[in-house]
Amino acid sequence: MKPDTTPKIAFVMVGLPARGKTFIARKMARYLAWLGHRTQVFNVGSYRRERIGSRQHHSFFDPRNDAGQAARLEVALAALDDMLAFLRGGGDVAIYDATNNTRERRAMVRARCEAEGLEVVFVESICHDPVLVEQNIRANKARSPDYEGVPEEEAVRDFRLRIAHYESAYEEVGEDEGHFIKTIDVGRTLVLHRVEGYLLARVVHYLLNLHIQPRSVRLTRHGESEFNVLGRIGGDAPLSDAGRGYARTLATIVRERVGTDVVVWTSTLRRTIETAEALGLPYRSWRALDEIDAGVCDGMTYDEIAEAMPAEYESRQADKFRYRYPRGESYQDVIQRLEPVIFELERERRPVLVIGHQAVLRALYAYMMDRPPNECPFVSIPLHTILELEPTAYGCDERRIELPPAPLDPEGFRQDT
Ligand code: F6P
Repeated sequence: MKPDTTPKIAFVMVGLPARGKTFIARKMARYLAWLGHRTQVFNVGSYRRERIGSRQHHSFFDPRNDAGQAARLEVALAALDDMLAFLRGGGDVAIYDATNNTRERRAMVRARCEAEGLEVVFVESICHDPVLVEQNIRANKARSPDYEGVPEEEAVRDFRLRIAHYESAYEEVGEDEGHFIKTIDVGRTLVLHRVEGYLLARVVHYLLNLHIQPRSVRLTRHGESEFNVLGRIGGDAPLSDAGRGYARTLATIVRERVGTDVVVWTSTLRRTIETAEALGLPYRSWRALDEIDAGVCDGMTYDEIAEAMPAEYESRQADKFRYRYPRGESYQDVIQRLEPVIFELERERRPVLVIGHQAVLRALYAYMMDRPPNECPFVSIPLHTILELEPTAYGCDERRIELPPAPLDPEGFRQDT
C-alpha cells in the first residue's frame, strides 16, 4: 500500500517591494527548519542579481517596459523551476519570495505547483503604515547590493519609483485564489482564508508574534551546580559556591549592560532559579525550559552510563540528535517542547535573558542562529558564559562574555560530550 504522505507546501509571498516579504520568508524558513521540516527560500531578487546584474534603473521594473518584463519573467521561472526541483527531490516546504503582484503571475505559479500535487498558500504582506515602509527602504533597500556605491538619497528616490511601478500593476490576493494568509503591518492584523491543518495553524501562530523592533536576547546556563561538580547529569541540585559567585557576577553584568527592564526566564529547576534570584528582578519559570530529561540515566555520570548501559551510550554517540534516553527525551523532543518559548521570544519587545541548561540553550541557540537542528547537540555553551544575541534584519549577531569565577572541571566531567 502507498504510504499516506502529507502534501508538501509552497508558500508564495505576495507584496510590494519594502513590505518585509524577505524578512517574513526567512523567519518562516528558520522556524520551519528548526522544527525539522526541510525548508528553503527561493528569492527571485537574488536570481535577478545573479543572472542580470544588480544595478537596474527603476525603469527596468516598469510594467510597460517589455524587455524588462521578459527578463524578470525569465528569472522568476528559473527560481520557480529550482523550487519545484527542491520539493520533488526531498524538500518539505519551500518559500517563493517575489512580489507576485498580479493575479496572472500568481495563477501561473499556482498552476505549476498544483500540477505537482503541492499545496499553495499565498502569504501577502501589506503595509498601511508609511513609517514601516520608509524604515525598511532606508535600513535595507538603499543598502542592498542593488545600490552599491549609490548615494543614499539617490538610492531611496530610485527605490520609491520602483515601488510605484509595482503599485501601478498591483492586485491584492482574492478569495478565489485559494489559501492565503495576509499579514498587515507585520502581524498587527492577520487575515486568513482557507487556512487548515496543524502546520499552517502553527505558521499563523508564529506570524502573529513577529515584529521588527530591535532587541537583544541573552542566553546563559545557571551557575555551576553541585551535580556539575560531580559530573552528574540531570537532577535538581543547588548551586555550588562557584555557581553562587557566578549568579552575583551575572547580576552585576545584567544591571550594567541591560538595566532593570529585562524579561528573565528560568526553568523550574532550582539551579536556574537560584541563579535568577541573585538578580533581584522578577522572573518567570517555564517547565518547557527544564533540562533534557535523561530518563533512567538521570543523576548518573557519563562514565557510569557507559559502564552500566554500553548499548545506550553507543546509541547516543551514534546519533545524539535523535537518541532518546529510556523514559526520557531526545534533542528532537526538546525542540518540540520549546515551541511556545520561541513564540514568546518572538513576541517580546524588551530584552530577554534566559537562564537555562545546556541542551535546552543549544536548541534555542540553533533557532536564533539558524543552525540545522541536528547540529544543536554539539553547540558549545559552557558554564559561566553569557551569549548575547542581537537579531539583525535577516540574521543574528553573537557575542560571548565569559565571566569569573570559572567553574570547576573535575576529571570525568565531560561538559561537551
Ligand atoms: O551536564 C549538564 C547537563 O545540563 C545535563 O544535565 C544534561 O543531561 C547535559 O548537560 C546535556 O548535554 P549533552 O547532551 O551534551 O549530554
